[in-house]
Amino acid sequence: MQKIWICGANGRVGRKLTGLLRSEPVELLLTDVDSVDITVSGDVMEYAGMNRPHFIINCAGLTDLARCQREPELAFKVNALGARNLSVAARMGKARLVQFSTDDVFDGDSREPYTEFDTPGPQTIYGKSKLAGENFVREFCSRHIIIRSSWIFGAGSPYLGQILRMAEQGQVIHAAADQYAAPTGAEELAEKTVELMYHGEDGLYHVTGQGSCSRYEFAREAVRLSGTGAPVMQARGGDDDLNALRPSYSVLDNMMLRISGIALLPDWKVMLEAYMEQWRRRRQDTGMAGMDWRQGR
Ligand SMILES: NC(=O)c1ccc[n+]([C@@H]2O[C@H](COP(=O)([O-])OP(=O)(O)OC[C@H]3O[C@@H](n4cnc5c(N)ncnc54)[C@H](OP(=O)(O)O)[C@@H]3O)[C@@H](O)[C@H]2O)c1
Repeated sequence: MQKIWICGANGRVGRKLTGLLRSEPVELLLTDVDSVDITVSGDVMEYAGMNRPHFIINCAGLTDLARCQREPELAFKVNALGARNLSVAARMGKARLVQFSTDDVFDGDSREPYTEFDTPGPQTIYGKSKLAGENFVREFCSRHIIIRSSWIFGAGSPYLGQILRMAEQGQVIHAAADQYAAPTGAEELAEKTVELMYHGEDGLYHVTGQGSCSRYEFAREAVRLSGTGAPVMQARGGDDDLNALRPSYSVLDNMMLRISGIALLPDWKVMLEAYMEQWRRRRQDTGMAGMDWRQGR
């Protein structure tokens, strides 16, 4: 039976992958920072040596952009050194490594979607440390898949979660109308990850929802699907605390999937609709459905 080690298993993507792989005939090894800190090389080697996984999936990371700016050494320690440790462990144990990365590796100056063949130029510490992690993976582990994704929603995403909380409370939602990317459903991303692993794919893949939108368009669509009727206003990126540091344009073209003949993910609106359907059902179960925010006050 194949053994799959998921590092950062308590994170958003880690939890989705765990949920998906639980129904597969595989043995899952689940760790997070409290059990195996990926920045401690000795611990990583020991765990990998004892358990001999066939796959290592690195979902661990320091993903808080503002914290990465404040604590650059920690960002490089987790996002770069951690990836290096796992790459070395994977190479030594002949395991395949799956590394998650981000659209933040690009500078955001383009107005054309970035392909896997475009040159990165990260502007933030988060983006720089994630690119350094990618480079370590390429350097130390030849059997790897690097998956860059963007605006992952549906797995406890703080951004969508905040929008929906504010919508339920009838607050005015301000969202950047000048930041563009391709939102990606966590469930669909997890499924595509497993497909790439099982098909023995190698190398770098952009995996995102098709189409693109601004944060404002995303928030407006999410609120429309929530049925709450909360107001959504356009803001500039710099006005939106959570996202002021992000590139203004980071749409990823999924060229490698396309030229490899692998099916693309659906349009982001289709994935958001599927997620919001589940959200409405959960809300119905808790007796909040059909409640316009104006009635809820
Ligand atoms: N979410 C997105 O929109 C998005 C977009 C593009 C790419 N990605 C990439 O996808 C991957 C997963 O993202 P995510 O959103 O699932 O992140 P997340 O929710 O922040 O999860 C990261 C997990 O890693 C753990 N961790 C932190 N430091 C660690 C260490 N030293 N050793 C072991 N585990 C550690 C965290 O634990 P604590 O919470 O206790 O720190 C957390 O459980 C990351 O590589 C990220 O760059 C995410």
